[in-house]
Amino acid sequence: MTGKFIIQGGTPLRGDVTVYGAKNAASKMMIASLLTDEPCVLENVPLSQEIDITREFCERIGSEVAIGMDHRCEIRTPEIKNTSVVEFSRKNRIPILAFGPLLHRKGEAEVPFLGGDAIGHRPIDLHLEALNKMGVTIERRERSYYATADAIIGADIEFPFPSVGATENVLLTAVRARGTTTIRNAAVEPEILDLIRMLQGMGANIACDSAARVITIRGVPRLTGAVHRVLPDRNEAVSFAVAALATRGQVRIVGASADDLGAFVEKVKAMGAGVSQEADALVFSGADAYRATDVATAPHPGFMTDWQQPLAILMIAARGVSTIHETVYEDRFGYVKDLRRMGANIEVSDECIAPPCRYAGRTFNHSARITGASLLKGTDIVMTDIRAGMAHVIAALVAQGKSVISGTDHIDRGYERMDERLRALGADIKRV
Ligand code: EPU
Repeated sequence: MTGKFIIQGGTPLRGDVTVYGAKNAASKMMIASLLTDEPCVLENVPLSQEIDITREFCERIGSEVAIGMDHRCEIRTPEIKNTSVVEFSRKNRIPILAFGPLLHRKGEAEVPFLGGDAIGHRPIDLHLEALNKMGVTIERRERSYYATADAIIGADIEFPFPSVGATENVLLTAVRARGTTTIRNAAVEPEILDLIRMLQGMGANIACDSAARVITIRGVPRLTGAVHRVLPDRNEAVSFAVAALATRGQVRIVGASADDLGAFVEKVKAMGAGVSQEADALVFSGADAYRATDVATAPHPGFMTDWQQPLAILMIAARGVSTIHETVYEDRFGYVKDLRRMGANIEVSDECIAPPCRYAGRTFNHSARITGASLLKGTDIVMTDIRAGMAHVIAALVAQGKSVISGTDHIDRGYERMDERLRALGADIKRV
């Protein structure tokens, strides 16, 4: 049941926090495990709702899943009992990735239309075109996509945009296909590289040239089980980092590495934040004053779209005009209206902040101009998605006075026990 966070803002966050495994990797790895009848073990799996939803999906297909409080997930699918999970509709964006595993093991797959956050149209044309090229026939039904294939064959696929989901879909289909698949202009997010490492551990033959965005997969007839440790969640790390910086505290984020957070670390350093890398942690130290900056979101290694919402809170605290050009999703500024009610000075517009992006000349409000420094006041907010919700929580931690933030489901979908972990850093946050 969804609840509320009651937050009394103004306390600098201090202390150590450990980041758990990335939800956007662990959930895909659970789907990868469907490619074999042998057991797979995933370590460092976050105990978030996204994992529960994915678990339910896998169990309906026939998986036996055990997830312990030690963040260890054992998943085994000795037999595919069900190739159609349509009534699962609208829960998250994971089911579409099950096409490959189900087709390889049973020759057919039916998955529901996708859910996930309302941050743009989020079409799946790139997934469907790529699978078509590999010999998969996909029929759109009233509430689902139904796929069949006589044989899945390697293909040369070039994406017009490096889509994370479409790259993963092709990977999960190509690993057991007949022949070689090449993905050009592939997404190369660290979560994808980690999925590749897991698939290689299962016996897949994959070569990846990240700099060139080319992934080459030579299909193998069968895959085995594997033991894999999920990489740390970059979005969690960024949320804790901004919460520390915006409240002018100091937090040591254990498990975070500057290697995977490069664009973020560079940006907050330019704003005046202190950042130092230790052997197993990144330390973020707040400053009295921050400088304004400009950010354009982009596929990795660029500044990730999931980071612009927390960064906006630091921009509100910075002196001068900061800008965010969102080039990955067309509708990801829904959260700013609540920040305005808290006292932020933010304008959104449909114009690109140079250089133009693929939304140029369209009517999507995909740019924001933030004039600071503003002091925020606590207020009542209803969260509408994971990253926006997290930005609201951070804003409330910074604000003077009390905020009541409802819709905790959104936070629980993406972050494990976020309220408890913030409380351990000194935040005055209660769940009711
Ligand atoms: N796109 C298409 N056609 C497609 C696929 C994508 O036009 O067939 C467009 C999308 O509409 C979007 C852009 O390409 O404008 C990027 O989409 P992408 O496929 O890269 O994203 P995704 O796989 O749907 C994942 C994460 C997102 C994250 C993006 C970008 C998961 C479950 N979701 O989404 O995470 O923002 O990659 O890095 O892995 C979040 O965790 O809050 C979240 C939204």
